[in-house]
Amino acid sequence: MIYNTDMTTKTIPLFKVFMSEAAAENVSDILSSGYIAQGPEVDKFENVLKKYFNNENVVTTNSATSALHLVFHMLKEFGLGENKIKIETEQDHVLTTPLTCTATNWPIVANNINLKWVDVDPSSCNMSLDSLEEKLNKNTKAVLVVHWGGYPVDLERLQLIQNNFNEKYGFKFVIIEDCAHAFGSNAFGRQIGNTGNISTFSFQAIKHLTSVDGGCINFNNINDTEKAKLLRWYGIDRNENRKDFRCESDIQSIGFKFHMNDVNAFIGRKNFQPVTENLLQIHINNGKYYNEELKNVDYLELMNYSNDFEVPYWIYTIKVKNRDAFMKHMEKHNIIVSRVHERNDKHTAMAEYVADLPLLESFIDEMVCIPVGWWVGEEERSYIVETIKKGW
Ligand SMILES: Cc1ncc(COP(=O)(O)O)c(C=O)c1O
Repeated sequence: MIYNTDMTTKTIPLFKVFMSEAAAENVSDILSSGYIAQGPEVDKFENVLKKYFNNENVVTTNSATSALHLVFHMLKEFGLGENKIKIETEQDHVLTTPLTCTATNWPIVANNINLKWVDVDPSSCNMSLDSLEEKLNKNTKAVLVVHWGGYPVDLERLQLIQNNFNEKYGFKFVIIEDCAHAFGSNAFGRQIGNTGNISTFSFQAIKHLTSVDGGCINFNNINDTEKAKLLRWYGIDRNENRKDFRCESDIQSIGFKFHMNDVNAFIGRKNFQPVTENLLQIHINNGKYYNEELKNVDYLELMNYSNDFEVPYWIYTIKVKNRDAFMKHMEKHNIIVSRVHERNDKHTAMAEYVADLPLLESFIDEMVCIPVGWWVGEEERSYIVETIKKGW
């Protein structure tokens, strides 16, 4: 066994950065090209993503956080979708999950939009759609879901809820999917990133596909796409004909500096092929292996995942009794585990949005994530299972 309790041996990390040789060895060509800002490489990476998602409406950004910020800015200032659903009153709100990265929810508050928590399904760590149905009202303008660990939210049921809402209130709330964990996921035969909703992805260091930092928004219509392209760069039209090449003509709406640059885009494009052709499958296989090997372990409960979904597990979540002892046990055996994201609703900064969340309360002290990604080989994963089965 290569892993033992002797601290001189290596640990199994919970996350690892994947950088292809093609990216690492050739990025200097871009660095020394004299052009490192947003240019042709961004177009090339966007084209790769458009083909992969089978969606023409992909807009890259410099992070998923800025992607989400831009989406909520548009929801507030311009409206989203064909029907321009918009935040109009102080009561108008976004319904969202508290179990996620702060990056999911901070952009809502940073845009001065009212937020309401929806409870979390203990069988998936995704938003509870039962709880969502209870919390909807005429002021619900958007629902923000996260595909926790890469396991898709039940989008068919969510669409049904959206249609029923439309019958009752005469408009459809916007569905925004935070897909930071879910690059390569499939649900009901549809790829996440092309579901008819708005989705955002992260290409940050430890995500399935990294561009060092980066993100994208996948829209469902050309108008929002074109608007986002303007807003990601100050509101300036990069394609306009100018009298002086440095000086833009009229800017109609205030925008941000959220665009991707050519260095990040090149790295993302060069990492794309090994990730999509090889690495994602290792995440899937390792997850399936744990599903089988850990299903009958005492004091441990698995997520209750549907077999209909393809899950490139970004994290593998379990529920364990006596979690602190479990974490110490794993640490002693050089396996890094973590809860990964703190619940967002308990922070002082979110005090005004506090809500009763009994489902989340029922399992938050038991959940923990174990290593599952491409760096976990057959030897590592059987060592992880063996270590868990020893008990803690
Ligand atoms: C669920 C979720 N959303 C959003 C983000 C933000 O991504 P980025 O670091 O690209 O801004 C993360 C990052 O970990 C995340 O886990």
